Amino acid sequence: MPVVRRRQIYLVGFMGSGKSSVGALLAGRLHWPFIDLDTTIEAGQGLNIRQIFENAGEPFFREIERAALAEASKTEPAVIALGGGTFAQRANLDFIQETGGRTVWLDCPADELRRRCAGITTRPLFRDAESFAQLLAERLPYYQRAEYRVSTAVREPLEVAEQILELEIF
Ligand code: S3P
Repeated sequence: MPVVRRRQIYLVGFMGSGKSSVGALLAGRLHWPFIDLDTTIEAGQGLNIRQIFENAGEPFFREIERAALAEASKTEPAVIALGGGTFAQRANLDFIQETGGRTVWLDCPADELRRRCAGITTRPLFRDAESFAQLLAERLPYYQRAEYRVSTAVREPLEVAEQILELEIF
């Protein structure tokens, strides 16, 4: 762990865990800037995430995601909502930990995640129930490396944001 901790909260978790909605509410409560990594990527490319995957593939997406993370890390204080795969890239996990950001995993059971993502067409990595479950299983060991874990299963985003405010981060 780095000696200097920064006033940055990174929200980590699978698609549908509530990173964007909780992040916006948390930043509002703190009066801190909010950065949604997927939104900054889309703005930078002038394309939505699905189009980026379709046009250039996942490896390219991971490259620009890495660059977007490096850029986002320059803002302090900040609440930063990561994409579902960001923290599951070892280099990103190391970068966030080394730069002193606080990490909070928004944990949610697979069934609930699947329910929330069903019918949404903007997530290229959401194909079918089986691959969804497999991807989640692959990602869990990374999410478990976050410093804090908050359950979002039966909670509204505002309650989750309030729970994060009660952590001994601030
Ligand atoms: C991804 C999750 C998405 C987005 C991209 C890849 C993933 O973010 O970054 O589609 O690898 O799980 P959300 O978690 O905000 O859906």
